[in-house]
Amino acid sequence: MISRWVGLLAVRAAARLAVRLIKIAAAAALIVAAAPVSVCAAIGVWTAWLAGWPPARLYRAALWCAPMVAVWLAAIAITRGWASVIQAPYQAWRAMWRDGAAGAYLAAAAVIAPAAIPAGLAAGGLAWSYRIRSMQAGSGGLSPAAAVAFDLRQWRHQARIARARIAAPGSVPLNSRNGDLIAGAVIRAVGHPARQIAAIPYQRMRSHQVVIGTSGTGKTTLLLRLWAGFVASALHRHYAGTGGLPLLVVLDCKGGGDARRIADRARRVLRAAGAAATAIWPDEASLSLWTLPPGQLTTTLVDLIEHGTGGAAYYADIMEAVVGLAVDAPPGPPQDTADFLVRLDPGWLSMAYAASEHDDAHALIRAAGRQIGDIALRFRTLFRRLGSGLDGPGGFGDADVWYCILEGTGQASVAESQARALVDLLASYATAAPSGAGPGGGRREILLAVDEFSAVSRRLPIWQLYERARSLGLAVQVSAQSWPGLAADEDERYRIAAAADGGIWLLRTPHPEPVAALAGSRKVMDTTRRLLGAPLWSHQGSSRMRLAPVVDPALIRALDVGQAAYIYRGGATYVQVKRLVAAPAAVGTPTAAVAMAREAAVPGTAAAADVTSATGPAAGVGAMADGRAAGNGAAAPSGAPAASGAPAASGAPAASGTAAASSAAAGSGAAVELGASRPALPAARTPPGLAALLDEAFGKEPS
Ligand SMILES: Nc1ncnc2c1ncn2[C@@H]1O[C@H](COP(=O)(O)OP(=O)(O)OP(=O)(O)O)[C@@H](O)[C@H]1O
Ligand SMILES: [Mg+2]
Repeated sequence: MISRWVGLLAVRAAARLAVRLIKIAAAAALIVAAAPVSVCAAIGVWTAWLAGWPPARLYRAALWCAPMVAVWLAAIAITRGWASVIQAPYQAWRAMWRDGAAGAYLAAAAVIAPAAIPAGLAAGGLAWSYRIRSMQAGSGGLSPAAAVAFDLRQWRHQARIARARIAAPGSVPLNSRNGDLIAGAVIRAVGHPARQIAAIPYQRMRSHQVVIGTSGTGKTTLLLRLWAGFVASALHRHYAGTGGLPLLVVLDCKGGGDARRIADRARRVLRAAGAAATAIWPDEASLSLWTLPPGQLTTTLVDLIEHGTGGAAYYADIMEAVVGLAVDAPPGPPQDTADFLVRLDPGWLSMAYAASEHDDAHALIRAAGRQIGDIALRFRTLFRRLGSGLDGPGGFGDADVWYCILEGTGQASVAESQARALVDLLASYATAAPSGAGPGGGRREILLAVDEFSAVSRRLPIWQLYERARSLGLAVQVSAQSWPGLAADEDERYRIAAAADGGIWLLRTPHPEPVAALAGSRKVMDTTRRLLGAPLWSHQGSSRMRLAPVVDPALIRALDVGQAAYIYRGGATYVQVKRLVAAPAAVGTPTAAVAMAREAAVPGTAAAADVTSATGPAAGVGAMADGRAAGNGAAAPSGAPAASGAPAASGAPAASGTAAASSAAAGSGAAVELGASRPALPAARTPPGLAALLDEAFGKEPS
């Protein structure tokens, strides 16, 4: 009985082996018979493996052969008649074997190529697709670890090809023909179309974006590329009549010497992208906090000072009331810091509100009398620490790009206050869109980029800005070193990330899970197999669907410098970012040039030469620069390049065109434009209206 059973088992095993051998022999015969197709398919699979291509690439290559096949078939139809077309592949196959047997290998290859190449590529695509799927499902490979090793090897191949692609000159331009921004070469795409070049539609730059990556992984390099792409694309759209002029405001919250170096690089890169004027705040340019509308000015001034909660909130209320009195005083809002500080005095306030209809104000001044001195002291200290960068003159309309350096590392609380003030100023600028002709009615397409957001995230309510930003035509981009650096609490972090509908850029970070989870998951098949002993697998097993994360946190942790995952709408594209190379620095020291320009901008000097036109050629402004005088936020829709010496737009404040200004232009064109464009400084720094008040109270002073 047992021997019969063993005999049966042996027969069954032998039959199985025979079937298997027959299958292998049949496959081998097919491969040999269709040798040209097999060779093409093998080359295709080998290339796809080596370059980490998706199967679609091979299918596309097969489709690209369609013209060749059409010409081949047409030639057969013309020479041998339509009936031969159907038999063409078979006839070609026979001819190939005949020529091959006769030793005419080249002729054999030529005769079969039109049919074999597309068929081989398509077959290779199918085989490669089967291989990838079986590896993903865990049912391929010789060992249980094969799938993991396969994926890692593919990543290495894909990254190598992407690096080679960005190294090839001209292969990765800044913008595509249709205005998309090109960040670099695609390494791998999951849930996104597999392309070679990572192109981001311009509209995503008009939405909010988040960049997260640990220190030194290439956040600023990536941002710089996106900024340059944004400026170039927006200018292109503007001159095509489909959008407003761009305004890029960068808050570099890291500060220090590094920020200055990056600012200089940004200026050169952005100039090449078409931004004629880059203002570097507070080193070379200033803004005026006092241009804010009175209501907003009060809120901003109060927010600049950190106040606690609980009992301290009482003092915050008093401060708000006193600041409100100072700002809304009858002589008009303060013109500068000195004017504001003078007002924080019970005597001044009483006198300003002397008229009898201000009874409420008098009651307030009496009630807050003892605190006004303390409030003045706090503001005095604050403004001393803030420096003169917010005391004007100047406004966001004066330049195409504002690069604001905030000392977030050295003086965090100062940087927080500065960020707060700058953001309020920008929001106010965006709200009060300058009226004007041209696309967008003079409204500018604004991108606010906050690099190293972590340094100021404690007091800068970026998500509030996010929420009202869209109606203001303002897009916000923030970069942080980590997920916790994005905001103080988890809710706020998720709010920021959820509002980032322009996409999230995730670079290497040790804790990518929360951001990776935002990309969601995808359905994959999971197959279990029984291992009979390497390299044999049993055919028994089971498959089930499981959800795998779209962004693999392990992959993010292992990213190299300059690699980023772009997460958008449940998909991710891994990008090898192409670093922008800036043009060499202009000859001359920018600071000297600015000093000279400032000197030249002293009010009262006769307006002579056109500084903008002098600046154009010296600054090497790109062909997209528009030759409009800085200082006029409203578009002067002129396509003339600056180098042509287009006259300054009307409304530009009178600037001196002395030899000093012209020679300064050679050093730093953008700075000269800014200096030249600033509104004249007020002649006296006494608060306007105060003299009149004193005159009214004590009679006119004898002259
Ligand atoms: N795409 C890239 N290609 C080549 N090199 C890069 C790339 N991105 C970054 N680097 C290199 O890494 C260095 C650091 O880059 P970057 O300053 O952009 O990083 P970061 O994340 O902003 O750093 P930090 O957090 O310190 O500000 C750069 O000086 C550059 O040499
Ligand atoms: Mg950086």
